[in-house]
Amino acid sequence: MTRCLSLFGATGSVGQSTLDLIRRDGEAWRVGVLTANSDVTELAKLAREFRPDIAVIADEARHGELAEALAGTDIEAAAGADALVEAARRPADLVMAAIVGCAGLAPTMAAIESGTDVALANKEALVSAGELMTAAARTSGSTLLPVDSEHNAIFQCLAGGRIEQVRRIILTASGGPFRTMSAADMARVTPSEAVAHPNWSMGAKISVDSATMMNKGLELIEAHHLFPVGLERIEILVHPQSVIHSLVEYIDCSTLAQLGSPDMRIPIASALAWPQRMATPCAPLDLATIARLDFEAPDEVRFPATALCRAAIAEGGARPAQLNAANEVAVAAFLAGRISFPAIVDTVRRVIDAAAPAAPTSLHDIFSVDAASRAAARYFVDQCEHA
Ligand SMILES: NC(=O)c1ccc[n+]([C@@H]2O[C@H](COP(=O)([O-])OP(=O)(O)OC[C@H]3O[C@@H](n4cnc5c(N)ncnc54)[C@H](OP(=O)(O)O)[C@@H]3O)[C@@H](O)[C@H]2O)c1
Repeated sequence: MTRCLSLFGATGSVGQSTLDLIRRDGEAWRVGVLTANSDVTELAKLAREFRPDIAVIADEARHGELAEALAGTDIEAAAGADALVEAARRPADLVMAAIVGCAGLAPTMAAIESGTDVALANKEALVSAGELMTAAARTSGSTLLPVDSEHNAIFQCLAGGRIEQVRRIILTASGGPFRTMSAADMARVTPSEAVAHPNWSMGAKISVDSATMMNKGLELIEAHHLFPVGLERIEILVHPQSVIHSLVEYIDCSTLAQLGSPDMRIPIASALAWPQRMATPCAPLDLATIARLDFEAPDEVRFPATALCRAAIAEGGARPAQLNAANEVAVAAFLAGRISFPAIVDTVRRVIDAAAPAAPTSLHDIFSVDAASRAAARYFVDQCEHA
């Protein structure tokens, strides 16, 4: 039976990997929605190929450009934040949430509230509004299928037991491109060095997050919401080869792991086909050639982001949303050459130290915290730049 997929963030790294799989399995899928932020050319190209009902560009100023690029087709062209939310409410068998940043929160929540199953790549949405999102999923019956390779691995390992019988969840981390670099040398790294991940090909923001290890901290928060085993039972283990994508240890001391080549199409395929499996063009794992797998404890002195994230989720309330928004601003400032690499996590820490926002009870509260945190982060970025 043909299933309908709505894809948010179609032009990005996860979006393109998703479409690569859909393209190869055209009989199984119909695309209902495709979206992008500002890349009209790529969005229109994808829309002409996949023929969705609607293509949405988040940047309202580009509505005319998109309509023109889709002229002569029966594809509806829409623009703006409200259009994204409206598109997310349309009936679909699966929504792929692959927008980067908290910008993905409103459409992802709209899909969840509509009861649609969501393949969740957009970790920042879950970090910012984890309690609200998981509560909404429980109410509507929407299933959250993790796409992040680590969470997808844990999801798969949990099929081998019951969550009440989990003793530990071990999130693996590659350690990023600066795993062995001294703190002094990290002060001089450039954006192009930071986005050059040793194992994965990803968008710029998550690549920088991997380099600071903020990505692993965000994933710790994500795991806490998706797999409620208790924060103290979720550990981080550095594993430079990115072959084991995470592990689950049960009370009988059996540890289950999911392994695979570092190719996002594997966890994406797992989420698309769940509860079935689908074939992928990915390289099968050749362990004889890989020969060895290494592990080390994370260094929270050179990489303080994971401890910051653990403290934020332990405190709960608005802290994770505040942390996430500050990080988004700081990463953008680093990529623009405005602040140094260590200043990313310093900026996040300064924002957290400067204010303790009240616990959010609604999406509106989350957006207020997000806005205030962004303003504070911009202030500290300006200070840093002019220091
Ligand atoms: N890439 C990976 O391997 C990977 C792995 C695990 C998890 N994730 C998570 O998946 C998400 C996407 O990552 P990515 O690497 O695919 O990012 P990316 O390559 O930067 O793509 C981001 C997508 O979101 C769109 N977008 C950006 N800002 C937006 C906004 N304000 N409003 C609406 N749409 C917006 C972009 O559109 P334009 O192209 O028009 O800018 C693009 O389609 C992130 O949350 C990331 O943490 C990614």
